[in-house]
Amino acid sequence: MPLINHTVLQTLQTLQTLQTRPMLAELQHITKYYEQTGSTIRNQVLDDISLQINDNECIAIVGPSGSGKSTLLNILGTLDKPASGNVFLDGSSLQQMHENRLAEIRNTFIGFVFQMHHLLPQLTLLENVLLPLLPKKDKSLVKAANERALHLIHRVGLSGHLHQYPSQLSIGECQRTAVVRALINQPRLLLADEPTGSLDADNAGQLAQLLIELNKEQHIALVIVTHSMELAGKMDKIYQLREGKLMLNDKQ
Ligand SMILES: Nc1ncnc2c1ncn2[C@@H]1O[C@H](COP(=O)(O)OP(=O)(O)OP(=O)(O)O)[C@@H](O)[C@H]1O
Ligand SMILES: [Mg+2]
Repeated sequence: MPLINHTVLQTLQTLQTLQTRPMLAELQHITKYYEQTGSTIRNQVLDDISLQINDNECIAIVGPSGSGKSTLLNILGTLDKPASGNVFLDGSSLQQMHENRLAEIRNTFIGFVFQMHHLLPQLTLLENVLLPLLPKKDKSLVKAANERALHLIHRVGLSGHLHQYPSQLSIGECQRTAVVRALINQPRLLLADEPTGSLDADNAGQLAQLLIELNKEQHIALVIVTHSMELAGKMDKIYQLREGKLMLNDKQ
């Protein structure tokens, strides 16, 4: 009889991998100011904010309008830089990173969904979804991504609309297309800034449900900025941003 059987060995190896694997995303002591035009007064939006995001985690960020939620999400998504503090994605610091590498991370590691879908009006649904693949040169990767696009489009119930233009789709359909576009490069982190903000209650509920299901199916972490406590309540954790500080809300 071996001293350690195969299952125990596998469990030990998994534990070891978990221990050595870096945090998916981390904000360390982030501050951000905006100068008021024509004055020396600085508006401090983020004040020493730290946050850790694990693989597959679902997080909501809530807070009053103007509290800095979008600013925080943009810093996490490499679209903006903090005044001080550091952002780590998969263990790599963004502080000294070259703009080309940042752009690559933005296109592969992160997916974005905004309040407005930002689909290009002159492209069809399918062409919009395939747009993030343009920088890819490897034909086999592009082929696999094409198949993935069709699968995801089917998954979100839009197979019958492949060749329609955004003007020929409903707002809910456009927003679901934007979700597929965000997932096309298999990101590990999906950042959504008020993704249901322009939808009616029915469509908002459906989109929220879809995002949660995709989080489970695609093994993707989700950070949602929202004014909807109903949507926030469906996430693993709710953070409240207020007066520059981020606090974890106790879920009832
Ligand atoms: N480029 C900028 N220049 C100056 N001030 C800015 C800039 N961007 C944002 N701000 C200010 O920073 C603060 C936070 O803005 P932000 O958009 O992050 O808030 P928010 O929480 O996302 O609000 P909302 O819920 O309305 O979307 C606001 O007071 C805003 O006016
Ligand atoms: Mg905002």
